[in-house]
Amino acid sequence: MPDMVLPRRDAPPADLVAAVQALKRERDAVIIAHYYQDGAIQDVADFVGDSLQMARFGAETKAKTIVVCGVHFMAETAKILAMDRTVLLPDTAAGCSLADSAPEAEFRAFVTARPDHRVVTYVNSTAAVKALSDICCTSSNAVQVVQSIPRDVPIIFGPDRFLGDWVAGQAGRELVLWRGSCEVHELFSAEAMQRQKQEHPGAITLVHPECPASIIALADVVGSTKKLLEAVRTGPERATWIVATEPGIIHQMRKARPHGVFLMAPAIVRGGPQGACSSCNECPHMKRNTLEKLWRCMRDGAPEVRLESELAARARLPIERMLAVG
Ligand code: 13P
Ligand code: SF4
Repeated sequence: MPDMVLPRRDAPPADLVAAVQALKRERDAVIIAHYYQDGAIQDVADFVGDSLQMARFGAETKAKTIVVCGVHFMAETAKILAMDRTVLLPDTAAGCSLADSAPEAEFRAFVTARPDHRVVTYVNSTAAVKALSDICCTSSNAVQVVQSIPRDVPIIFGPDRFLGDWVAGQAGRELVLWRGSCEVHELFSAEAMQRQKQEHPGAITLVHPECPASIIALADVVGSTKKLLEAVRTGPERATWIVATEPGIIHQMRKARPHGVFLMAPAIVRGGPQGACSSCNECPHMKRNTLEKLWRCMRDGAPEVRLESELAARARLPIERMLAVG
């Protein structure tokens, strides 16, 4: 008799999407996903958006459980704004190089050494770093947030030096920058992108402001994931688009413009030739989440993101100030 293959006791259901949908109803849960998640996760989510939209949705939802398909700082932000709710993250190891680039102790020393400065912190940071800040921002509202501070008040901006550089130029303000960066957006190759633009004359180039200035200089549109998607939605039906951000966003771009051509901007392979890679810009942290992990975390009610209430209260203030700016 041939060996019988028994299903693993813990095998996932064949129809993961249906199982996730059923768990949403059972647990009074909503799924919030970032544009960098896999298409399958975006499609099962109740809401897909950029960091600012996710924070707003998380603050407004009445659901008992908020499942964040994104990275750890996004789940932390959701928890800070909804301490009375259960916040789940399918893989708690989904971190962020920007958040990691600003350890609390060093950031505290940087801020303490400049007591007259207002501290503007990109939401891609830990709750502990947010708690040291006056106001948070996302790439959607960073220029507005900086402009909301009186011109005679000096500003510290962290942790992303490239975003800070771009915001300084847009707002016409000098900013004292913390020198962090996103390991995904710093990898694009200006040289290879120039070649790509020559090969596709007429292509529209979309760049996220976490990219270095040499990449931003090649852009037709610079902005948060939401703004880049909006450019596609309102742009020509059959255009070619060069996309210099994480490729997950192309899922929504294709839906918005099915006849468009979407080309990932080429990246540098560390230690390798310029522009040798068109998939090196996948965020390894975002991509830790899978449909199966999403189903497991909703079934188990874990892993849950928890925060000490005193820290959450301190981190909440700069986020609320940001939400008030718009
Ligand atoms: P936005 O979606 O807010 O543009 O942020 C991009 C990002 O890197 C999130 O981690
Ligand atoms: Fe962090 Fe960059 Fe990944 Fe966004 S894309 S989560 S900033 S590492």
